[in-house]
Amino acid sequence: MSTLEYKTIIEPAEPFAPSSMAGLVRRTSGRRGSTYIGTLGGTRTSFKFIRPGKLVDGDLELVLASVEKGDPVRRHVPMYEFEMVHASRKMTMGKIRLRIGSARTLRYPGHIGYEVRPRFRGHRYAARSCQLLLALANAHGLKVVWLTVDPRNIASQKTCRIIGARYIETVRIPPSHEMYQDGARYRRRYRLALAKMPSNAKSKGSHQGKL
Ligand SMILES: CC(C)(COP(=O)(O)OP(=O)(O)OC[C@H]1O[C@@H](n2cnc3c(N)ncnc32)[C@H](O)[C@@H]1OP(=O)(O)O)[C@@H](O)C(=O)NCCC(=O)NCCS
Repeated sequence: MSTLEYKTIIEPAEPFAPSSMAGLVRRTSGRRGSTYIGTLGGTRTSFKFIRPGKLVDGDLELVLASVEKGDPVRRHVPMYEFEMVHASRKMTMGKIRLRIGSARTLRYPGHIGYEVRPRFRGHRYAARSCQLLLALANAHGLKVVWLTVDPRNIASQKTCRIIGARYIETVRIPPSHEMYQDGARYRRRYRLALAKMPSNAKSKGSHQGKL
């Protein structure tokens, strides 16, 4: 796994109203990012996105495409979305999302979600992308990452096993959950304990992420 460089974003906190939170994508060209403050379950929370640095594993590079602040009203947590890009051919091969929140909030969606475009499957890009994101998850204080998989999805279950996640249980999605409304009924839950990782390791050639 690549060595990563992290820089915590230091712009002063800015308050936001719930109505302005959903789906917000922030892309600025400078070195500065934002801290967001909101309420989740009645508790005031703040969140800092972290510059992910260069994320490369052989022919696979993760490129930050967007961040979302989250939406306490919908119980959506802050999220990073990366494109899986072919490191030399610069083609987008898939996407991966990292959600930063509690295991309880993410019981059904999980911390990580991914998809690989059909023509690029067969190279373990999903598993390798997960591994590239673990240090970022760890830098946010996560000690455990949960992945949830449709019981019919063999490739994704195999992906969980490849990264060393352990199957814990199968849960039924409650009708009140938005995933149920999207047609999901069951999820297999996999748990991956994160080893302690350096949060400020520097690597030659790593760059500043732009948020
Ligand atoms: C899940 C997904 C991201 C995996 O893509 P990928 O990283 O290219 O994964 P691979 O094709 O390399 O497959 C990973 C492993 O599963 C195995 N596998 C894939 N399909 C399989 C099947 N139908 N039966 C058994 N094993 C299978 C592969 O052989 C590989 O194992 P190996 O490397 O030991 O041979 C991809 O299938 C996908 O995008 N599916 C649709 C979206 C999705 O399901 N996302 C996950 C939601 S939880």
